[in-house]
Amino acid sequence: MLKRKDFLKTTALGLLPFGIPMVPNQTRFTGKKPVVISTWRTGLSANEAAWEVLSKGGYALDAVEAGVKVEEANKDNKTVGIGGYPDREGKVTLDACIMDERGECGSVAFMQNIKHPVSVARKVMEESPHCMLVGEGAKLFALDHGFEEEDLLTPDAEAEWKKWLDQKEYKPKINIENHDTIGMLALDEKGRISGACTTSGAAWKMHGRVGDSPIIGAGLFIDPAIGGAVATGLGEEIIKTAGSHLVVEMMRAGHSPEEACKIATERIIERSSGNSEGVQAAFIALNKEGAYGGYSIVEGFDVSVYNTDGNRAEPVQYLI
Ligand code: GLY
Repeated sequence: MLKRKDFLKTTALGLLPFGIPMVPNQTRFTGKKPVVISTWRTGLSANEAAWEVLSKGGYALDAVEAGVKVEEANKDNKTVGIGGYPDREGKVTLDACIMDERGECGSVAFMQNIKHPVSVARKVMEESPHCMLVGEGAKLFALDHGFEEEDLLTPDAEAEWKKWLDQKEYKPKINIENHDTIGMLALDEKGRISGACTTSGAAWKMHGRVGDSPIIGAGLFIDPAIGGAVATGLGEEIIKTAGSHLVVEMMRAGHSPEEACKIATERIIERSSGNSEGVQAAFIALNKEGAYGGYSIVEGFDVSVYNTDGNRAEPVQYLI
């Protein structure tokens, strides 16, 4: 355990505990508030719903829930909510989480037949003594809290699954089968920051597989004093590096949101001994001043941003 005097010694030397370099405090990366950012270009319509809340002085947590629900309800989005591609058994199983400005969190994983997992995750946070519920237990909790059961496998997704059964090859296609997992971060007028992340996960996954999206610290992390980060892409790699937590810790060490996201993408490549074949992962981050950024391993990822300058998709820098 690091003692207080050791902590003071390392910080005096310009190092945070565990060797993280410290950037001088005067380094500020400022932006505008309110602001909402989300993953991929498809985040633009989700941003509209979030901005409805933020532009009226509303609460960041309400904004991120309203925002990501747009994609959960979008049947054309093949990696989120209803219409999402199923697992190998033809079951659509959903993962989601949410965090508020106090660092409180709620999460559901491997949940079936409930269209809005992010809202169930919020109920877990607000109305249960737990942080995470999975599978049948998550569904029963949702039904107890007024959610309705429905079939989430659309005819289009079922037809694609039947085609996949001919080959049964599991090799997620970069920027296609992992493409629309939506993560969102919002900072409201009062300076409250919140985040949400929701997905149907990797197409054709094994039954029972859970990705990064509902895992606090992997798919999403908020530190009330610093800011937040969310991830998208191949969940297994993001879990192995606790990606979103890493991004927030890098911002704590003084890096800009973009630099922090870059470090997390590099860490994935380093951890896999430089072998990045077939791996796409991307992060977006927002700090308490409203500065934001993103970074991806492979080209083709955008951060969608809505602030007083309007709603737009901004391509991010990438490693490969
Ligand atoms: N990032 C979504 C997943 O891997 O499930």
